[in-house]
Amino acid sequence: MAWTGQCPDCREWNTLVEQAAPRPTPKASGKAGNGRALSPGAPGGAVRLREVQTSRVERLSTGIGELDRVLGGGIVPGSLILLGGSPGIGKSTLTGMATANLQSAGIETLYVSAEESAAQVRMRAERLGPAALEVRALAESSLETVLGTIESEKPAVCVIDSIQTMHSSELSGAPGSVGQVREAANALAEQAKRLGVAVILVGHVTKEGSLAGPRVLEHLVDCVLHFEGERERTWRTLRAVKNRFGATSEVGVFEMRSGGLTEVLDPSARFVEEATGAQGSVVLASMEGTRPVLVEVQALVSPSELEIPRRVVNGIDRNRLSMILAVLARHARLGLGTADVFVNVVGGVRVDEPGADLAVALAVASAQRGEPVTGPDGRPLACFGELGLTGDLRYVAHADRRVAEAAKFGLAPVIGPPGGERLAGLAPCSSVRQALKVAFSGNQAGREEAAA
Ligand code: TYD
Ligand code: MG
Repeated sequence: MAWTGQCPDCREWNTLVEQAAPRPTPKASGKAGNGRALSPGAPGGAVRLREVQTSRVERLSTGIGELDRVLGGGIVPGSLILLGGSPGIGKSTLTGMATANLQSAGIETLYVSAEESAAQVRMRAERLGPAALEVRALAESSLETVLGTIESEKPAVCVIDSIQTMHSSELSGAPGSVGQVREAANALAEQAKRLGVAVILVGHVTKEGSLAGPRVLEHLVDCVLHFEGERERTWRTLRAVKNRFGATSEVGVFEMRSGGLTEVLDPSARFVEEATGAQGSVVLASMEGTRPVLVEVQALVSPSELEIPRRVVNGIDRNRLSMILAVLARHARLGLGTADVFVNVVGGVRVDEPGADLAVALAVASAQRGEPVTGPDGRPLACFGELGLTGDLRYVAHADRRVAEAAKFGLAPVIGPPGGERLAGLAPCSSVRQALKVAFSGNQAGREEAAA
């Protein structure tokens, strides 16, 4: 095999491992590659989808509203869920709380800890409350032993913490290697489906954000959840990036406290309370799934000493920032070619939507000018909207709900794109230039005048 350092798919270095190629079966050798066609087999029975039998499954509630919502209404029995997140983010805490709730609702659970000793798991459970101590735990990293235990205990929900530390003696390769992880997950998936056990695989994510190794698991599982946040801060967001049983747009917000994770039912209130209204800070009226959430976007601009100035982002896409800076340079005469630019979404929240563009642009402009942008009565300024390459401000979905959310916290009028119905509380701007003019016009009267 030729030496290859970089994965041609995901562009990661040193992630490739050598695996024995499967022996070609006689059937496979007759593939189109050597010019011969496959001979057709006996026909299968195709049915009209209307006639396909389905069964309504009862979902298992984890007792954690935000988790259930992200899952699409609870855990589907027999399903396979991958919960990814960086070390220390709270994966064991979340799964510990979920199993505790399930167990006290009379649903049998099994918590397999391949990383921590049973005593360590117990110590965490003590912080989570008495229900957590009723969960059956197994401190074991041998795949065979775990499979045997699931077979004999037949829990309804089983947590494997973590899939990277599981290993099989029948396979070569170190624990955590792609081959081992894939094999372990395959064996657990097969058993889960056969016994109807819902399995939550906990997976560690590297700094770059990819599930180290378990990237290969994403197609195997029914649901991929990402648990994110800044370690130093207490906010955590949970989102589904794949869900065969629900939408992938829902986001759950949590706060890590001394007794475990608490659900944040009104994230906007928390984020707005923290928003400073200082220079380089604006409030983004964003949509997290079906829910409007106000988040603070901060920017810092400083002269660069590097030939290629730095573009550092947290919570937004780096390429998106490059695009926004180019639009600002071209259409608002705001050149930042010799400055380092840092953009951060406060609270460790990630905003993956085009509606965040204007907030980034205004935060950067405010930082660059050293001038705060404030809304009515000196409150933080709220905005949303997508930037087009021509400098236009484009319509994004749910404008009405974004404006209503901002108004609820006294942040109207909101700077946003025109279009759709005329909304009270919206200061519509058709271009980034107009938005900047309105944003820096200081007070509400000036804003309304500039928008007119
Ligand atoms: P943990 O769930 O062990 O993270 P992971 O499994 O993702 O690596 O929790 C990590 C942090 O959470 C740890 O630093 C301690 C903190 N923590 C609390 O603040 N309160 C709690 O009640 C618990 C259980 C943990
Ligand atoms: Mg853990």
